[in-house]
Amino acid sequence: MNETIRSQLNHRTIREFTQEKISEQTLNQLLEVANSTASSTHLQSYSMIRIVESELKQAISEIAKQEYLARVPELIIFIVDQYRNHQIGKEQGVDLEATSDMNTFTQGFTDACLAAQNLVIAAESLGLGTVYFGSILNDVPKLIQLLDLPQLTFPVVGVGLGFANQSPQLKPRLPIGTKFFTDKYEKKKDYLDLIKEYDQILNQYYDLRDTNNRVDTFRDQVVTKLRTSNPKRSQIVKHIQSQGFKI
Ligand SMILES: Cc1cc2nc3c(=O)[nH]c(=O)nc-3n(C[C@H](O)[C@H](O)[C@H](O)COP(=O)(O)O)c2cc1C
Repeated sequence: MNETIRSQLNHRTIREFTQEKISEQTLNQLLEVANSTASSTHLQSYSMIRIVESELKQAISEIAKQEYLARVPELIIFIVDQYRNHQIGKEQGVDLEATSDMNTFTQGFTDACLAAQNLVIAAESLGLGTVYFGSILNDVPKLIQLLDLPQLTFPVVGVGLGFANQSPQLKPRLPIGTKFFTDKYEKKKDYLDLIKEYDQILNQYYDLRDTNNRVDTFRDQVVTKLRTSNPKRSQIVKHIQSQGFKI
């Protein structure tokens, strides 16, 4: 097994970090990795915002309702960015309608996710810990205001990184057979039976995020998490439209 795969198979989210700072040189290298990510039609429809002001980080942690976000040594927010390409068109006297359509939005969203994951892989390969923050979307209008996001941009996810100050267990995943198929989608007859063993394994896992509690079985997690969906988060389409996207 090579080092990249070893590092990827060892992935675990880190939520507590030491005070040690990541050097500017390392950070720049990680940003260059993100910048080298494949991008849909090479339009590079995403951008990254490094959060350095501590009050801003604190305000974002309040949106996320995750106090540990305020303590991450580095926080990079990945956004859909069609503003840049729209401006490039405008400066040439062309109104690029397509910069606001659903297709370019999803292209930008995918680009942003891939760049974020590329940065995460690179950071972990250097022994750094990382955490994604989807929770920054708990209050999209507030985040847009804090980051001064123009029309045709949209926040996707935050990535926190630094030197780990905790050593969580590996979080077990569903058996690969439940999510890998050949040629066509395979509807399984009895999912509960298929995940029986996984449920037991997951039930032995201690989640440091949740004050060292054992996590529920996967079947219970699915029901609990999907039942308690955040009403604000389900407004996301409205916020995407407010940013000028015609979706
Ligand atoms: C898109 C995305 C959003 C996430 N948002 C959060 C978050 O807001 N806060 C957090 O603590 N972890 C967040 N996570 C981390 C997941 O909880 C974590 O990846 C998952 O529980 C599996 O654990 P592991 O990464 O340690 O294997 C997010 C992960 C992804 C991919």
